[in-house]
Amino acid sequence: MTIIEFIADFDRAAFDCGDETLNSYLRERAGQDRRRGLNQTYLLIDDQKLIGFYTVSPHTLAMRELPSKTAKKFPAHLLLPCYLIGRLAVDKSRQGQGLGKLLLGEALRVIALTAQKVGGYCAVVDAKNDRAQAFYENYDFRPTAENSRRLFLPIAEIDPKLLTLPPLA
Ligand SMILES: CC(C)(COP(=O)(O)OP(=O)(O)OC[C@H]1O[C@@H](n2cnc3c(N)ncnc32)[C@H](O)[C@@H]1OP(=O)(O)O)[C@@H](O)C(=O)NCCC(=O)NCCS
Repeated sequence: MTIIEFIADFDRAAFDCGDETLNSYLRERAGQDRRRGLNQTYLLIDDQKLIGFYTVSPHTLAMRELPSKTAKKFPAHLLLPCYLIGRLAVDKSRQGQGLGKLLLGEALRVIALTAQKVGGYCAVVDAKNDRAQAFYENYDFRPTAENSRRLFLPIAEIDPKLLTLPPLA
């Protein structure tokens, strides 16, 4: 099993995470977005088969998007530098085996290493539904505002265990 930067070699039409928006993003837009510098897509490959992916990009949050407890630590006019995990999904045939956790840990590791070099306050995700929100909250992501599906996790608060998951077998 390995995680690699996006290449077009794998059968993306066969990938099905149960959410057609995410499936079609991977099939139709991931390559173009990457070429245009909008984000990077990472692929989880097992036995030559594409079984998961995530995207990550630099992002900013306006202070009004954050809970007041967090926002008051920063100047009001600041755009807070952060990183967006725009999409993250595991093929239906492989869900519930710890691979979502593995992809999230890898995404947060990339973000933490980048932030160490160039700064950045938090990771951000947009949970698609209650299930996805519960998945992210399991790893300490919290709503940016009440009832918001946009969640954030300060980089300084990432569970170190997530950043040091065992190497892929
Ligand atoms: C959400 C998704 C990525 C989770 O991946 P997965 O491989 O099934 O999840 P894992 O097996 O890695 O589970 C990791 C942990 O999350 C927990 N978890 C998984 N799904 C959960 C859910 N719906 N609610 C709460 N916890 C959940 C597991 O119990 C596990 O906890 P543990 O680390 O304490 O053992 C996957 O179900 C998926 O691709 N869904 C469709 C696309 C989607 O909704 N993506 C989210 C982006 S908005």
